[in-house]
Amino acid sequence: MMQTSGSRPQRLGEPLPAELLDAGERLSRAELQELQLARLQATLRHAYQHVELYRRKFDAAGVTPADCRSLADLARFPCTTKADLRDTYPFGMFAVPMDRVRRLHASSGTTGRPVVVGYTERDLDTWADVMARSIRAAGGRAGQKVHVSYGYGLFTGGLGAHYGAERAGCVVIPASGGMTARQVQLIQDFEPEVIMVTPSYLLTLLDEFERQGVDPRGTSLRVGIFGAEPWTEEMRREIEERMDIHAVDIYGLSEVIGPGVAQECVETKDGLHVWEDHFYPEVVDPLTDQVLPDGEQGELVLTSLTKEALPVIRYRTRDLTRLLPGTARPVFRRIEKITGRCDDMIILRGVNLFPSQIEEIVLRTPGVAPHFQLRLTTRGRLDHLTVQVEARATAGPGQREAAARAIAQGVKDGIGVSVEVAVVEPETLERSVGKIRRVRDLRER
Ligand code: DLL
Repeated sequence: MMQTSGSRPQRLGEPLPAELLDAGERLSRAELQELQLARLQATLRHAYQHVELYRRKFDAAGVTPADCRSLADLARFPCTTKADLRDTYPFGMFAVPMDRVRRLHASSGTTGRPVVVGYTERDLDTWADVMARSIRAAGGRAGQKVHVSYGYGLFTGGLGAHYGAERAGCVVIPASGGMTARQVQLIQDFEPEVIMVTPSYLLTLLDEFERQGVDPRGTSLRVGIFGAEPWTEEMRREIEERMDIHAVDIYGLSEVIGPGVAQECVETKDGLHVWEDHFYPEVVDPLTDQVLPDGEQGELVLTSLTKEALPVIRYRTRDLTRLLPGTARPVFRRIEKITGRCDDMIILRGVNLFPSQIEEIVLRTPGVAPHFQLRLTTRGRLDHLTVQVEARATAGPGQREAAARAIAQGVKDGIGVSVEVAVVEPETLERSVGKIRRVRDLRER
């Protein structure tokens, strides 16, 4: 274990040899900004000319693509939201005729219509390129085997990882999600070096390793590329220790392309470099919509710079983070690990709380497993939150009680609100096979 900043223990991986950096990664910051501006201007023109919704919104805001003369001018253009995509369901925001579209994906969302996204051949090519770059940044190399447990199908995780790994020259094992016992067998038999999976499903896989009596530290895996949901530094430590692998973060969303918008580098594990030659990031105050300076926390807004079928202009991701200067890839800025989504914020008796804050506390508490769920109910006229967390099989009644007290106290001290903690029997909470749903909202309306 190597110690880096603060008390965060981290094992750091090997940096990418300079000859494996691609052309985009070799740009200077000035060259990048020149490229970004040219691509941004082309994207604005393309969107304005071919998508009625953009034309209407730009006209209403009194701007035309010609008004974008610098990157800062982007702030004058209106934002796009998930509601815009829903309202134009299914294909209303496509900017090319259907005979140029080669693939559709969709994100289910929790309410209402799904959001449908499309890709031209060149979009699929770009996506494979940025995913290949992500896999290399994570420590994957040509010739290695990559076990993909992100779901295949309309979700972008499986196929996004798949074509990226092929583009990186890897051998893909397209396992998809589910059939957990068989996945554990395949990992032992095929000996992949890399696994790509949601962190919550990785925990399900880890439990299965242990159930089968197989030491998860003894597998061939060296790197895990985890994303599609928030996860904390505490979760990184848990996974790295239990599996003896490097755990790195990958970020993306269907509306912008899928996974491969931003990626953490294995040699620094200090947040995710945004692949800024294809996706232009801004952070805005979610309440005032004002663009915030780098370093300040707010909502991530993304503009695609090279997409053809579905250009997105200033897409409001709802994800909370801040922009930081590049480190392992100095040309690209980083986003800090996503703390949560605006939508996932629970307001409990006036106090803001994110599931990731509970994850931090649960994971540092002895006697409980990293499986938890948050149940929101109404008691009297007040909202009430119960943290249900599984006991470790080895924990006796005394340790379970102590864990419940420690978690309640941790939430009170760290977040400033009282919650109930129920330590439940091992293996009783629902397991994830993809993205986990942490919050059950059972409040009376
Ligand atoms: O989750 C794409 C993806 C697949 C990313 C595989 C990474 C790995 P959607 O289903 O459209 O796409 O969901 C996008 O998931 O806005 C975030 O709220 C959340 N999310 C994705 N990656 C991360 C991450 C895929 N690394 C939404 N950390 C996003 C936190 C993430 N949240």
